[in-house]
Amino acid sequence: MARIGILTGGGDCPGLNPVIRAAVKKGSLEGYEFTGIKNGWKGLIENDTMPLGLGAISGILPKGGTILGTSRTNPYKKEGDLQKVKDNFKKMALDALIAVGGEDTLGVAAKLIKDGITNIVGVPKTIDNDLSCTDYTFGFDTAINTAMECLDRLHTTAESHHRIIVAELMGRHAGWIAVEAGIAGGADVILIPEVAIDMDEVCNTIKKRHARGKTFSIVVVAEGAQFKDKSLVTQEEKLDSFGHVRLGGIGEILGQEIEKRTGFETRVSVLGHIQRGGSPTAFDRVLGTRFGVKAVELIKNKKFGQMVALSGNKIIDVSLQEAVKSLKTVDSDLYDIAKVFFG
Ligand code: F6P
Repeated sequence: MARIGILTGGGDCPGLNPVIRAAVKKGSLEGYEFTGIKNGWKGLIENDTMPLGLGAISGILPKGGTILGTSRTNPYKKEGDLQKVKDNFKKMALDALIAVGGEDTLGVAAKLIKDGITNIVGVPKTIDNDLSCTDYTFGFDTAINTAMECLDRLHTTAESHHRIIVAELMGRHAGWIAVEAGIAGGADVILIPEVAIDMDEVCNTIKKRHARGKTFSIVVVAEGAQFKDKSLVTQEEKLDSFGHVRLGGIGEILGQEIEKRTGFETRVSVLGHIQRGGSPTAFDRVLGTRFGVKAVELIKNKKFGQMVALSGNKIIDVSLQEAVKSLKTVDSDLYDIAKVFFG
């Protein structure tokens, strides 16, 4: 009987468990057995696995996070780890691997295919929604609904106190969360990594809004947004094994500057990992389920080196190499719609 390994790597997000459940359920019907690889690529380096039968997936559909655990481990970082991955792939007697992850995890999958572990299919996940070749990644819908609810809450307190509240949302390279949660949550200014922050423009927009009688404003900023001619605002200089800095702190700097320039009392709220937690929305449960089933179909049809993807409302498969070539940033059309409501 053929054996499929599944791993989840990178930042967790709601919808990972529905993918695992769907793949195992569909695979069992097709006669496959499964090995759960723990903590992303780390589990393949360390031969750390768990049994993944129908019992293990019972009741996991509404659970956030991932029952397999995750990590930001890069097997291309440390000498010897790649060989361990290759050896353990054999030891685990895997015929195929489903790698569920974002740009980093799937980037490793694409490299492994070139390095001889060819029987891999990818499933795109990230709350940031910045993976190419798919209209949506799962996790994003839950994150924007969580962020929207937080913006609703921030509205009532901002309005009562006649304050400006800056809400810092996640979004490392792309502002999808900021734009979509911002539109849904009625933000008065939305700042994203794709467009450099112009402080004069931000403050004039707020001043104009207050001049027409409004006594509060909600400013949404993505953690990866940058001021003109300045570098990213980071929490620490250390890089992770994929070369990423830990972002965070732009909201505070922005808030101080807004208060100084406008004279309006300002507070800052950083949503952070709240956006990654919790039970997946119906959309993410359905998308994760469709992705999981499709991943097994790809394996059954020996369509390796592909990533499942959403195109319109169809589940398709695309080349993994293509998908990890570049990131999907916010459409200017969508940002233009958001801008209609600025001020
Ligand atoms: O995976 C996406 C993401 O949530 C980014 O939006 C954020 O910058 C990063 O992960 C945070 O990573 P960590 O949980 O490792 O601090």
